[in-house]
Amino acid sequence: MSAPRPPLFQRVAIIGLGLIGGSLAAAIREQGLARTVVAGSRSTRTLEQGLALGLIDEGSQDLAVAVRGADLVFVATPVSSMGAVLKALRPGLAERAIVTDGGSVKGAVIAEARRALGDHFPRFVPGHPIAGKEKSGVEAADAGLYRQHRVILTPTPDTDPGATARVNALWAAVGAEVLEMAPDHHDRVLAETSHLPHLLAFSLVDTLARQGDSTEIFRYAAGGFRDFTRIASSDPVMWHDIFRENRDAVLEALALFRDGIDRFQNAIEHNDDEALMGVMTRANAARAHFLAMNERTSYTRARHSDDETGMTQQSNPTFLARPGGRLNGRLRVPGDKSMSHRAIMLASLAEGTTTVEGFLEGEDALATLQAFRDMGVLIEGPHHGQVIVHGVGLHGLKAPGKPLYMGNSGTSMRLLTGLLAGQAFDTELTGDESLSKRPMERVAGPLREMGARIDTGEGGRPPVRIHGGQTLKGIHYPLPMASAQVKSAVLLAGLYAEGDTSVTEPAPTRDHTERMLGGFGVPVRRDGATSTVTGGTPLAAGPLDVPADISSAAFFLVGASIAEGSELTLPHVGVNPTRTGVIDILKLMGADIRLENPRDSGGEPVADLVVRSAPLKGIEIPRELVPLAIDEFPAIFIAAACAQGETVLRGAEELRVKESDRIQVMADGLAALGVEHEVYEDGIRIVGGPFGGGEVDSHGDHRIAMSFAMAALRASAPITIRRCANVATSFPGFADLARGAGLDLEVHASKENA
Ligand code: S3P
Repeated sequence: MSAPRPPLFQRVAIIGLGLIGGSLAAAIREQGLARTVVAGSRSTRTLEQGLALGLIDEGSQDLAVAVRGADLVFVATPVSSMGAVLKALRPGLAERAIVTDGGSVKGAVIAEARRALGDHFPRFVPGHPIAGKEKSGVEAADAGLYRQHRVILTPTPDTDPGATARVNALWAAVGAEVLEMAPDHHDRVLAETSHLPHLLAFSLVDTLARQGDSTEIFRYAAGGFRDFTRIASSDPVMWHDIFRENRDAVLEALALFRDGIDRFQNAIEHNDDEALMGVMTRANAARAHFLAMNERTSYTRARHSDDETGMTQQSNPTFLARPGGRLNGRLRVPGDKSMSHRAIMLASLAEGTTTVEGFLEGEDALATLQAFRDMGVLIEGPHHGQVIVHGVGLHGLKAPGKPLYMGNSGTSMRLLTGLLAGQAFDTELTGDESLSKRPMERVAGPLREMGARIDTGEGGRPPVRIHGGQTLKGIHYPLPMASAQVKSAVLLAGLYAEGDTSVTEPAPTRDHTERMLGGFGVPVRRDGATSTVTGGTPLAAGPLDVPADISSAAFFLVGASIAEGSELTLPHVGVNPTRTGVIDILKLMGADIRLENPRDSGGEPVADLVVRSAPLKGIEIPRELVPLAIDEFPAIFIAAACAQGETVLRGAEELRVKESDRIQVMADGLAALGVEHEVYEDGIRIVGGPFGGGEVDSHGDHRIAMSFAMAALRASAPITIRRCANVATSFPGFADLARGAGLDLEVHASKENA
């Protein structure tokens, strides 16, 4: 065992032993962060309670006595009394004593501290723990109050950085996340996010209580009233002080709110449904965004989470897949990702309202949806896969006012670059760590040829800055690589270009853009490998059905093929011939896959897929199938590892620039399981055979995580897969669905970063 650490402080004096002070005392005790804890309070009763609860060693009513010999003093009294309190304790302060506080308003407290502490002021570290309860008083003290809560420190230019660092260390040691910001910024932010909501809660309860028969009102008040007004149970004295001490910022926030409420009133008065729905859908989305940010987790989880208690928890789950089992039953995988993106984009540009069914409620498609909301499009939902988009017409988008965040989604960023090149306003597109490493010049290049002005970041990567107001002209672009994203970006820019825009592909790639544009009344002429669109044609709204995603079905096609005794039906899967490469490849390997009920759904072919386990054999994958199975190779590699003989893939260098370098990351994972393989610049050779378990890093790549989960069906030991949060980008609910079919899969929270 390691030697016990010396405590951070020798003697800590807590001035004001209420919930905030008492909880810090309790946490210091619990963590052994000080040798002695002393309290200063005007109330003997409080001091006695503190002693009785074991929170403090000593107490004094004389504040100068209480702080004598302390190396840290924490002042947790109401902000209005802070000046007087600091003045009273000043004579007892040791020269090196650090003083910090817990006041919710910083500007006023700093001014008081400067006056009261004089030459000791540089040792004063203004702070604000953002934690509290409706209960107050020392009896509510809770050693866990600050765990996973934020503490904001607002040092001034005069504050001794050494003192700030020590206070920071204390808060971190009691489990808080410590941030620093300028005092006036703190006061403004808190006025909007904390003081204003408290004010509204107090005001609403008071307003209703003063009505003629308030008992009548409260008798019928339901959950909404209770939730909204919970914080009106907070300490009136404290809030009185806060409203007074942060007067200017609170008044500003109130004025902002009044504007909002006036707009709301107007919309109701004038039966302006669009404005009303606009407020509510934007608020819904913004709140989901807020929860996601707070949880530092996925947008999807935040949207579906009713439980906000874990708000500050940071997690990137690990999958633990146990060996063996088989897959059986009927399961519908979520909607097609490529089509979901395009549905939002085209419906937004259409004239009229489009109802989309089967929309994929995954992170990537939601990033596209959010981008269009940010550009002023009213979008209702998603709700059980239904989204209602109120199109604004080809020229109806509005400047977003902030960079558009595309998360992990390459499709969002590349297609939007094309679409935004023709707008009248400037935009900037940003993404997460993985997306920020992906090449964007492949779209920027041809768009510049059309007359667009686009800047990419270092090495041609994000952020992408698009300068609006350019005149685009149609071009003919022979694609240097088989990429549906590049093809689509050019065709979407073509909607805004003068004349015809055409692209010629080196090999067929998914053609959802072309098909869906046709569905919206903009014909795309196809002549061999060339597709042409004429600029300026308006899009007409209409209903859209997004089938299940064959890329998500692929994991189950592979899983059921490799696990003996499996039989799965996957209904309503999109089987557009530009996407069925995975079926062709698996069939060449000997898989038993049947397409039942083939039908057309809004211009896209769909079918129910039935797959039964079958012995697989290694093959040389035909090159022409590579672009048609481009997203399914991680799953196909697992099939290859289970096949008899070797499988060789060449001509797949595009795999190196997907969400991860899918050749290398898959090879590393296969190596961890003991699968023999050889890596090429443009592919891989995999030798099938029995393999073990092990630990695999998905590098935050959704498809790699899900592929290795399926590998467990044939592994001889458990497979642990790290960094699986991004599974939610394309397949929310994967773990539950896979478990339901028979995979032994556990999801463990973990604190690693994405
Ligand atoms: C997609 C095209 C493909 C694919 C991606 C989705 C699309 O990318 O890998 O997941 O929706 O157009 P590339 O165009 O880079 O091949």
